[in-house]
Amino acid sequence: MTALLTIENVSVAFGGIKAVQNVSWQIPQGSIYSIIGPNGAGKTTLFNIISGIYAPDQGSIRLRGEEIGGLRPDLLARQGLSRTFQNLQVFMRMSAADNVMVGCHLHEKTSMLAQIAGWPSVSRENRASLERARELLDFVGLKDHQGRSASAMSYGALKRLEIARALATRPVIILLDEPAAGCNPTETAEIETLIRKIAASGVTVLLVEHDMKLVMRVSSRILVLDRGQLICEGDARRVQQDDRVITAYLGTHGSREAASA
Ligand SMILES: Nc1ncnc2c1ncn2[C@@H]1O[C@H](COP(=O)(O)OP(=O)(O)OP(=O)(O)O)[C@@H](O)[C@H]1O
Ligand SMILES: [Mg+2]
Repeated sequence: MTALLTIENVSVAFGGIKAVQNVSWQIPQGSIYSIIGPNGAGKTTLFNIISGIYAPDQGSIRLRGEEIGGLRPDLLARQGLSRTFQNLQVFMRMSAADNVMVGCHLHEKTSMLAQIAGWPSVSRENRASLERARELLDFVGLKDHQGRSASAMSYGALKRLEIARALATRPVIILLDEPAAGCNPTETAEIETLIRKIAASGVTVLLVEHDMKLVMRVSSRILVLDRGQLICEGDARRVQQDDRVITAYLGTHGSREAASA
């Protein structure tokens, strides 16, 4: 069976820093997969390669068997791959619904000319986008926030708003970069519920997260990076018992994470 996402011998370097070195991983459809590792391990860089922000120096990335390495993020979104960012990327002056509609517009078919001319198809698509945005806000638990300005929303709500926007492109796989970072325990619990709900809806989730308790609870498989290299791959039990993983986390800020997992 073809994996949903295949990462094969992928490397990228920034000057002398080998941020990701020869990483290979196969992600089948369904369920929740996580990438962990100490600060600077290369997690975000790997996400950036998978989501088309960086082209790999070497290696191949295939979505449903088709090469996507180096494809622009908007083209990737059309192929079914969507993401959120480690640093919140929400339009603060826009309403919650408008933030989600920005994502929906990627799927609309109306041409620029039609938009300028104000053809009926434009308002039809806008209505459909608003309807879709409402559904998604409901899905992420923000039903009552539709008209609210993003600047008036709590941090945890904004994290879920960003996820709603990423879901607007109807992805088959969604990449979440530290969705619980900066969240309090209640907000983290809401994010966990949402991650499970996304997976249950049939969308494959790829997660980067420092909250080890969350990672160990939700992940079916975990890939561990250290200094750009894959050092372990397996389920939570296997990863927690692996000597290389324990060593990688010791002596870094990550020792606290490892101890709390
Ligand atoms: N655009 C860039 N230019 C130069 N170096 C970079 C760039 N992006 C990442 N790096 C370097 O690549 C390495 C991996 O960084 P990356 O951000 O992928 O780590 P990370 O695992 O996401 O860390 P964190 O847990 O702190 O988010 C680090 O040494 C980082 O300084
Ligand atoms: Mg990162």
